[in-house]
Amino acid sequence: MYLTKEEEKTLRGDNGDTLKKAIEILVALGDIYGADALIPIKSAQVSGVSYKTIGDAGLEWISDLKGKVTVPTVLNPAGMDLQNWERLGIDSNFASKQLKIIQAFGSLGIAPQCTCTPYYLNGFNVSYKDHLSWGESSAISFANSALGARTNREGGPSALAAALVGKTANYGYHKAENRIPNFEIAVNFDLSGSDYGALGFVAGKKVGNKIPLFQMKSKPTHDEMKMLGAAMAASGAVALYHIDGVTPETLDKDIVFERPAERAAIEKSQIDAVYESAETGGKPDIVTVGCPHCSLEELEKIAKLTEGKTVVKEFWVFTSRDLASQNKDLVKRIEKSGAKVVCDTCMVVSPAGDKFSCMMVNSGKAYAYVPGMCGMKSVYGNLERCVREAVGE
Ligand code: F3S
Repeated sequence: MYLTKEEEKTLRGDNGDTLKKAIEILVALGDIYGADALIPIKSAQVSGVSYKTIGDAGLEWISDLKGKVTVPTVLNPAGMDLQNWERLGIDSNFASKQLKIIQAFGSLGIAPQCTCTPYYLNGFNVSYKDHLSWGESSAISFANSALGARTNREGGPSALAAALVGKTANYGYHKAENRIPNFEIAVNFDLSGSDYGALGFVAGKKVGNKIPLFQMKSKPTHDEMKMLGAAMAASGAVALYHIDGVTPETLDKDIVFERPAERAAIEKSQIDAVYESAETGGKPDIVTVGCPHCSLEELEKIAKLTEGKTVVKEFWVFTSRDLASQNKDLVKRIEKSGAKVVCDTCMVVSPAGDKFSCMMVNSGKAYAYVPGMCGMKSVYGNLERCVREAVGE
């Protein structure tokens, strides 16, 4: 792999131990995957933040690093709401470890923005063909697909290394030739809202880690694409998808995709089968929405749906700290129903939900992950059904 003189100096250790370690990680990955050079990135998102997933070993590793990130960098959701952790029953030992992790990232210059929707953050804009190093699977999928930016599926250490160096190795999804669809999926019926999460859940199982090109009757919004990609990254390992006539690369007149040889159709009955879990999968004792973290539009919908109602069971709404603090009235309107708007974390990476036995979700990703990560049943409903369940209608 070609390195500039400055990169060679960093690799020799002339710019300190942390940068040496960081560039070693990038060069090792580049060598494994056949990268030709390091390329500048616009931003980074570092995963491996929850104490539930990285434990003491992760805390120690991050605490040993010195230096500062050189590009705007945010974090994946942590294991708790960093300000209101007590109200979800997080114990003080967990909280103290989690806060140490956030402080350790803070000493590297990373602000405590813990969200899987960094693309909603002010000052964290992503443009077509930007190179990024992001680590959360739904954010990766959204950036690659809905925004046409370019990121590989980074692990915690590689995203952090890229954030410190300000560069990543040029391989995988950074290269146009690796972004060509190789599986066509036809969806010949109308979809809306959480249907896209159900579609992603079904499609991810079918395509694994391939790059699907959807031929769809409906045209999804950004929120719907967020749900589709999150689910496909969980039930499969999809980091990039295209929707003909919708996603930026299919609209770029300089890019011509040939029709993939491998093809399948998804039927409405397969989507209906995901929703049937709400009737047959168990009685939910908790309802959660906001996987990936809610957008402003989704928070507004929830505020309307909960207006004048009172929840009869725990109802948690996950979003980013940034959005919640800029929209305090909206948060108050939702919480008037007894629902809790929770920031910095989510139902999967926090231990807060582990005491429940069955969770209703409107997310294909949470539906796929909750049983394995939280040890409870998951059932699937759209947003309206989730609110009805929470208020006992
Ligand atoms: Fe985000 Fe947690 Fe879902 S990280 S995508 S809310 S599992």
